[in-house]
Amino acid sequence: MAVDSVPVGPVRIDSVHVDSVVSLLGDIQRIGVDRVRGGYSRPVFSSAELDLRAWFVGQAERRGLDVETDAVGTIRAWWKPASGSLGDAVLTGSHLDSVPGGGAYDGPLGVVSALVAVDLLRARGVEPVRPLVVAVFPEEEGSRFGVACLGSRVLAGAISVDRALALRDSEGDTFAEVLTRNGHDPRAVRPDTAGLADLHAFVELHVEQGRALVDLDQAVALGSSILGHGRWRLSVEGQGNHAGTTLMRDRRDPMVAAARAVQAVRDLARDTPGARGTVGRLQPVPGGTNVIASRVDLWIDVRHPLDVVTRALVERVRAEAGTIAAEEGCTATLTEESFSATTHFDPVLRERLHRVLPDAPVLDTGAGHDAGVLAAHVPTAMLFVRNPTGISHSPEEYAADGDAEAGAVALADLLEDLLTGESDAPSLPRRTA
Ligand code: GLV
Ligand code: MN
Ligand code: MN
Repeated sequence: MAVDSVPVGPVRIDSVHVDSVVSLLGDIQRIGVDRVRGGYSRPVFSSAELDLRAWFVGQAERRGLDVETDAVGTIRAWWKPASGSLGDAVLTGSHLDSVPGGGAYDGPLGVVSALVAVDLLRARGVEPVRPLVVAVFPEEEGSRFGVACLGSRVLAGAISVDRALALRDSEGDTFAEVLTRNGHDPRAVRPDTAGLADLHAFVELHVEQGRALVDLDQAVALGSSILGHGRWRLSVEGQGNHAGTTLMRDRRDPMVAAARAVQAVRDLARDTPGARGTVGRLQPVPGGTNVIASRVDLWIDVRHPLDVVTRALVERVRAEAGTIAAEEGCTATLTEESFSATTHFDPVLRERLHRVLPDAPVLDTGAGHDAGVLAAHVPTAMLFVRNPTGISHSPEEYAADGDAEAGAVALADLLEDLLTGESDAPSLPRRTA
């Protein structure tokens, strides 16, 4: 459907109520507004994210979907076929948590578009031969417990359950404690690689986090790959002391070493073609204006298409940070917190979906997604929706109303093909493990 012919409000089509992406996003536009940072702060299991979860469950139930939440906090809303088995389901959805001060679209656009796609498929009279599951994954951003895509990583066995449950938030609460407080049983948390392998396909719609679609003058694209990326914590230890009584020559100030390490990350990444290196978070301990810190933790995000280059770059950061720390009378320790190899989505699935959306360009992305984690277990595809600002992880992230609706229509088109096609035609490989 042409973008300018996509309705942007809820409509009735053949007596089926079809919500619009814009109206559903409007429902949640006040949830998690961050008055200090701007944008939205919706960390997993915060009151904002819980409100979003409750809203999602209400929307799923309104559509007669069967809702279940697993121990790690993944919500699944099932549209079951009138007959047939419950295996072989098509999965779609995204996440509702956000980075601190994030935009309105990263995550929610995929969830909301999935709900609208269900409406559209019903309005079209589609009778699925396999179930559709709309999923909300917990802690995709890793902004509370530090590890991105935590829920999907647990399901995929990409992080040990013990390690996941022991992760702590900034208040010192473990993921296990937070799960328990929210009515989940951490003892029931386990990977489900067999369940993932049973899935027919996973399609995640996401706002584009760059400006390729603007330049291509297209509303939607299919995804090809996700840049390998990881997170490392650099802890710089010095001597905590008094800002007024400690002479400059007597200091072992980890903040100074940390500042130099931030520059080193930037410089080393610039020296490595194709690399991205970022320090977006830095935490002095104890953190007082008139206190020389005793320790500074900073978190380094490094990305490159070749995992071996990412790792080599991180080793150079480790060596450089060690030298800088020693020069400042401090010590530095670098610890890997998570790593995701470069992921190429299933080419057979993409080829098939490209036949459904022949005009859609195929784009890679530098952003991480649950789709990147699940791709190791299930044929996975992504759909990107144009973002006119090209900005993301910021309040300026945006999708125009017509593009947002066009994204849901495109998602419905893909899902229709996957829900009604033969399981092996035009040849999706069935996974055996
Ligand atoms: C998540 O959006 C990431 O790319 O870190
Ligand atoms: Mn994000
Ligand atoms: Mn996202």
